[in-house]
Amino acid sequence: MQKLNWGMIGGGEGSQIGPAHRLGAGLDGAFDFVAGALDHRPEAGITYGQRMGLADRAYGSWQDMLAGETARPDRVDLVTVATPNATHFEITKAFLENGFNVLCEKPMTMTVEEGEEIVKLARSTGKICAVNYGYTGYSLVRHMRAMVARGDIGKVRLVKAEFAHGHHADAADADNPRVRWRYDPAQVGVSAQFADCGIHAMHMASFVCGQEVTRLSADTVSCIDVRVLEDDAMVNFRMDGGTVGRLWTSSIALGRQHGLTLQVFGETGGLRWAQEQPNQLYHMPLNGRLQVIERGEGNLSPEADRTSRVTVGHAEGMPLAFANIYSDLAEAIRAQKEGSPMDPAANLYPRAEDGLRSMAAVYAVAASGQQDGAWLDARPPMFR
Ligand code: NAI
Repeated sequence: MQKLNWGMIGGGEGSQIGPAHRLGAGLDGAFDFVAGALDHRPEAGITYGQRMGLADRAYGSWQDMLAGETARPDRVDLVTVATPNATHFEITKAFLENGFNVLCEKPMTMTVEEGEEIVKLARSTGKICAVNYGYTGYSLVRHMRAMVARGDIGKVRLVKAEFAHGHHADAADADNPRVRWRYDPAQVGVSAQFADCGIHAMHMASFVCGQEVTRLSADTVSCIDVRVLEDDAMVNFRMDGGTVGRLWTSSIALGRQHGLTLQVFGETGGLRWAQEQPNQLYHMPLNGRLQVIERGEGNLSPEADRTSRVTVGHAEGMPLAFANIYSDLAEAIRAQKEGSPMDPAANLYPRAEDGLRSMAAVYAVAASGQQDGAWLDARPPMFR
């Protein structure tokens, strides 16, 4: 099978997430980086794109890229949307409508209604619309999911998810325009920290437990009082398989760096994994001894074996987790082109439905926070 063509919108020079996408998409040689509208400044986007080797497929805007790629017989097989949040909906919608497969950064949209529109569009066009909950690409996160699914820790009683960092803890810096916009409702919508980081943690809890969040109660606060939106939230939730969920997200937790961690407690065992030590998974069997599962050990599970790239003891990190999302997508696009079935171990990339569920949770967290922690339905209307 020939290589697939890949393009990116956003992710320009100096952007936070662009390099991880380029590394991830390029790792397995499945995708060639052939097109991009990489910057909100047309000239800068074209210049940078040309330096990346895109030649005449370095576009000045996503609209130019849509027109240019639509007209080509060798149009991109997948386009990644790595622009700021408020642009995700219109770009993703336009590319899906024109028959492209899309990987959209999170949050997929700004509202639940937009999210529903994207889900309906992906379903009606039959195109792939993935959402980059990239941390679910880690080999040991996939293994946790496999262990839960095969019953290694029994029925899951409780899941504890955290995504708490300290990068916006400086009150003296809160008015800095580079920080302030993140807490400005006009630019980010109804939620700041939960919509930015909390949704990763909540999605990972769902992914690993194989359950969806049904209702939640949130305590949201702005620890730095000039902020309109929350910089810290504690969210209690319930899942459709009966699991109890607890989630803490924060941007004022000084001393925490990235801070994404997941703990799953079942009737016969517990699991603990942290994004900053992604090559170890801790497993405590009931009445047993604490065990360390190392990424790269043989025969863990088909899902873990498939996503482990270097031998045990060599560190793997975040761009390789993204690479696993891209490798799932390459497999999905090939299955789509050939009309063949997909390897089930690859069929794990996060979907538009996950992006929509996150958006419903964002609105429920914001509303619950305003209602003193009232328990609210966390499901999008189309999944009730
Ligand atoms: P950034 O501000 O560092 O970079 C944004 C890039 O998009 C810049 O190169 C900018 O010029 C370009 N851009 C903006 N508007 C554009 C437009 N209309 N057309 C073309 N290019 C445009 O932002 P960052 O931190 O890289 O975030 C981008 C997205 O990625 C956000 O939605 C964010 O939530 C998400 N993100 C996801 C992460 C993950 O783990 N999945 C981690 C970090 C960010």
